[in-house]
Amino acid sequence: MSKNAETLAAQIQGAAGKDPVKVGLILGSGLGHIADTVDGVAIPYDDLPGFPHAGVSGHNPKLVVGDLEGVRVAVFGGRSHYYENGKAEAMRLPLEVLKELGADTMIATNAAGSLRPDMPTGSIMCLSDHINFSGLNPLIGEPTDARFVPMTDAYDTDLRAALHKAAKATDTNMADGVYAWYSGPSFETPAEIKAIATLGADAVGMSTVPEVILARFLGLKAAAISTITNMAAGMSDESISHSHTKAMAPIGAAKLEKVLRGFLKAQT
Ligand code: HPA
Repeated sequence: MSKNAETLAAQIQGAAGKDPVKVGLILGSGLGHIADTVDGVAIPYDDLPGFPHAGVSGHNPKLVVGDLEGVRVAVFGGRSHYYENGKAEAMRLPLEVLKELGADTMIATNAAGSLRPDMPTGSIMCLSDHINFSGLNPLIGEPTDARFVPMTDAYDTDLRAALHKAAKATDTNMADGVYAWYSGPSFETPAEIKAIATLGADAVGMSTVPEVILARFLGLKAAAISTITNMAAGMSDESISHSHTKAMAPIGAAKLEKVLRGFLKAQT
């Protein structure tokens, strides 16, 4: 673990207490408000040296450590995307800190476009796997053999089962599917969407894959859920824009929040 992560974890424990964190949650577009419902201590990323800027509108760049549904969590109110700074590894330090705080699980959330007509705007999808369409990797430059991370079961089978169980228990429809990572920040062309549909993608977005690779590298179990904010390019007449993403995210976000809370409650 980097010295910086140890120092930051000590700083965070100084403010929020030393009880080990169990689960880390990374909140995507339209989900930042969940951070405000944690009973704990909030620290702006700006007060955590080395944390990324995470300046995309619709994000809430602070770390909150405390209790959510009876589970000690570290909630990352925003993430850094590759398209903000050209750094696929920008979330490495926050995830190292999460590990250092004692967590064994990372759950990422994101906004995504759907490639499946049966998964319309407002639905949610639990990631079963991903396609790294960007060709980028947050572990490029990592000098140790630990960089050769197996990704066969990257999305943890037990976590996925527990999330689906929570969805059922809360009467929430949650699809299962493959997420393709596209670097952004421009959206995809219809031809690119056709291409990744052929390759087996069910949803497309600009995040999450680097965090899941980093989580597995650090030995954290990983899961992720998308809120579908639009049909992907060329699949409908619906507009595609960041403001549309922000406007639509709350529909799926309410469902996602129910599943997350149900999942956490079941951990206790
Ligand atoms: N493409 C990529 N990222 C996205 C989309 C999309 O259609 N919708 C929300 N995030």
